Amino acid sequence: MSSCFNGGAGWPEPVVRVQAVSDTCGDTVPDRYVKPPPERPSLSSDGSRGGLNNIPVVDLSMPDADATCRAVAAACKEWGFFQAVNHGVRPELLRAARVSWRGFFRQPAEVRERYANSPATYEGYGSRLGTAKGGPLDWGDYYFLHLLPAALKSHDKWPSVPPSLRETTEEYSEEVLGLARRVMRLLSSGLGLEAGRLQEAFGEGACMRVNFYPRCPQPELTLGVAAHSDPGGMTMLLVDDHVRGLQVRSPDGGWITVDPVPDAFIVNIGDQIQVLSNAVYKSVAHRVTVSSAEDRLSMAFFYNPRGDLPIAPMPELVTADRPALYPEMTFDEYRVFIRQRGLGGKAKAQLESLQATADKAATSCSGSPVVVAPPPGCPAADSSSS
Ligand code: OGA
Ligand code: NI
Repeated sequence: MSSCFNGGAGWPEPVVRVQAVSDTCGDTVPDRYVKPPPERPSLSSDGSRGGLNNIPVVDLSMPDADATCRAVAAACKEWGFFQAVNHGVRPELLRAARVSWRGFFRQPAEVRERYANSPATYEGYGSRLGTAKGGPLDWGDYYFLHLLPAALKSHDKWPSVPPSLRETTEEYSEEVLGLARRVMRLLSSGLGLEAGRLQEAFGEGACMRVNFYPRCPQPELTLGVAAHSDPGGMTMLLVDDHVRGLQVRSPDGGWITVDPVPDAFIVNIGDQIQVLSNAVYKSVAHRVTVSSAEDRLSMAFFYNPRGDLPIAPMPELVTADRPALYPEMTFDEYRVFIRQRGLGGKAKAQLESLQATADKAATSCSGSPVVVAPPPGCPAADSSSS
């Protein structure tokens, strides 16, 4: 197939861009992208539009700082997700970032392929996560780049077209970083700790993945990203201004489709903040559906711990009634674990055990304390960021 590229060293098989598949597959999704029936999305049953059964919306410009903190903490305890409005990142920057990255995905294939990534760092243009040969594939391409630590950031690895992309991405990431730091303080206060405490335990790192989900002839058979939790600290997601697609596991166990507020950030807790908070804040499963009518672009800014800090439940949150639920592990170690597993099938068992762990933690607060052994290596896994 002329749309196959080897995508740099290390992929187990030739990489096929979903954009090319979308252009050539006609009415039928190729088998590699078809999910087993229980994982397929129920596109008709979202029924959540604007209803109460949706992730909370939090206005970050409220003058009452305590009220803001309470709203953020409540959302992250119950849903692990909220939509941040009036978040301070300039709307024109949101628009410019979307326009630049759409511009990249519209470049001819040979231009995009100059940035093809490899599983060694994932940095660049990619189409698959994980290296399991023959594993199921998701209906999406992406561009992954490093932001922090500064030594890992290299503009040369970012697309040089469209010409505004690098500067826009730089400005965008600086402003989103400011927002992430602010939310960290709210989360820390929400745990009853001093505002800088969570950041102190976390350090700092950041990377970004821009996701591009081409139109799909049979969206009911596949997913743009299969169910996963985000492995890092916290994700600030800017979604398409008009195409929906993100689904979140609701506290009652069903999937709800997020109805994005224009220009909001969808903020969610990742595995590392679940660990640091000893499962007070939840890293919740989510997935992405695709559309037969339109392609969709989203930008996920991953705010991560410093790679070499041991991450474990903060001692202030560990009591006889609520023992530490996770062993200590650095994010670098966790990342290796995730990369080896890849996306296919990885998430389900891991997420279920994560959920079971969190449920037991909740019970153990009122009942007899149980130290729950986490699954080997970590509480949950995903290959969505690195
Ligand atoms: C992710 C993710 C959601 C989306 O990149 O980890 O969950 O709507 N993206 O693209
Ligand atoms: Ni995610």
